[in-house]
Amino acid sequence: EVVTLTNRDVQLRRAAENEILKQKETVESDPYRQKYHHMPPVGLMNDPNGLIQWKGTYHFFYQWMPFETAHGAKFWGHYTSNDLIHWKHENIALTPSEVFDQGGVYSGSAVIHNDQLHLFYTGNIDGEQKPETEYQCLAISEDGVTFEKKGIVIETPAGYTAHFRDPKVWKEDQIWYMVVGAQSEDLQGNVLLFSSNDLRNWVMVGPIAGSKQGGLGEFGCMWECPDLFELDGKDLLIVCPQGLEADGMNYANTYQSGYFAGELNKEEGKFSHGHFQELDRGFEFYAPQTMIDEKGRRLLVGWMGVPDQYEQAHPTVENHWIHCMTIPRELKWDGKKIIQAPVPELKEMRGPVLMHSSVTIKNDQKAVRGVQGRAIELNLEFDELEDQFAIELFQYASLSYKDDVLTLSRPHLEDKSKTEFRRVLLDRDLKNLRLFIDHSSLEVFVNEGEEVFTSRIYPQPNEEHILFTSLGATTFSVEKWGLSGYQ
Ligand code: FRU
Repeated sequence: EVVTLTNRDVQLRRAAENEILKQKETVESDPYRQKYHHMPPVGLMNDPNGLIQWKGTYHFFYQWMPFETAHGAKFWGHYTSNDLIHWKHENIALTPSEVFDQGGVYSGSAVIHNDQLHLFYTGNIDGEQKPETEYQCLAISEDGVTFEKKGIVIETPAGYTAHFRDPKVWKEDQIWYMVVGAQSEDLQGNVLLFSSNDLRNWVMVGPIAGSKQGGLGEFGCMWECPDLFELDGKDLLIVCPQGLEADGMNYANTYQSGYFAGELNKEEGKFSHGHFQELDRGFEFYAPQTMIDEKGRRLLVGWMGVPDQYEQAHPTVENHWIHCMTIPRELKWDGKKIIQAPVPELKEMRGPVLMHSSVTIKNDQKAVRGVQGRAIELNLEFDELEDQFAIELFQYASLSYKDDVLTLSRPHLEDKSKTEFRRVLLDRDLKNLRLFIDHSSLEVFVNEGEEVFTSRIYPQPNEEHILFTSLGATTFSVEKWGLSGYQ
């Protein structure tokens, strides 16, 4: 069969669908498959893309490499839902089939215009046959499930390298705007702002923020996945800078994900902003994307993974899949930081509650009757916390609190003889912990979402025990729900 560009798309779809079938049994036999998190049907999942609600339906696309548990020529996979709980896996949305995207249909976003779903994405040319390049491209859908590619809308501007990707588009006062992550020729990370009247013709307004700009020192060689939006009167720019050095409790992962709060001047193309704050304190969180839904809420989903951070050490690799997404979070701005809370819809997954209204542990380690399991939600409210407190999960991970510092530890994924840590200094006393536990993940919302820790965990598959430890006296209430999962 001769591979022309018109049948390459068909061939790639067929190959990916065959791969799903071929590995289905192996993938589904993995005890680390999750109950209520998005996972790839096979292969590697990374960034959430094109989050949007259209005519009631939530569309949720994702970066997908069907053929390996490594990065490569990405596809866009696609899930839809009417309630953020029950999800349908749709047909493959986009394949890397064309001359302008054959190295990968990289990350991007969705908007609605003229009653059509418009997807903006980065077409990657990987440098194997032609020099490495990245373009911003457009694909359009009438029905929300089949997409027609319209080709390149923006080429790399002068002064920037081939790292030019991850368009996030929005509309304000009848004008379309797009932010794109870009590396300048002096190898600094930047965010470029573009504007358009028709979504086809774009002009560059300028670099609005970046390393060595706006009072920042050297701050990363590439800024990936920018997202810019107003929340409760503040302009927030989420970015993923690459190349920051670990600094005390901060920047502990290979690459970071966080935000700057400030004011955007769209005419002058300047974003004046404060310092960088990390969105998440766990081991696996990166490339989040936000959307406004039809209720007017600002929702965020992140990738539960970090590029180049010992990815092949995840034990799911042997069963031909890797990575998953976070649960959806609703964002609020409290005047100083972004507050993140699990969307209330997730309560629909709960079974009956098990409630212990007042548990006291003093210089001891204890289980609490009924508080165990692997697809569960826990809510702890602290009445008294004299000295130190810890939750030991499944003889694997531990979440401990001492001297205002909350620490998550787990066996090092690569070298199991070591323990690895992630920490945060809390702004105020520990009052509340809400844990979402799935078969191989943990999401901890601290003090109603002031901090979040997101991580994969790989305890023994049947291990369900949870132990509470206290030095001095700790008195708390604990609620536990079994979570029924998607579908
Ligand atoms: C972030 C990222 C993006 C890119 C995509 C490729 O994880 O590197 O910058 O578009 O992944 O899969």
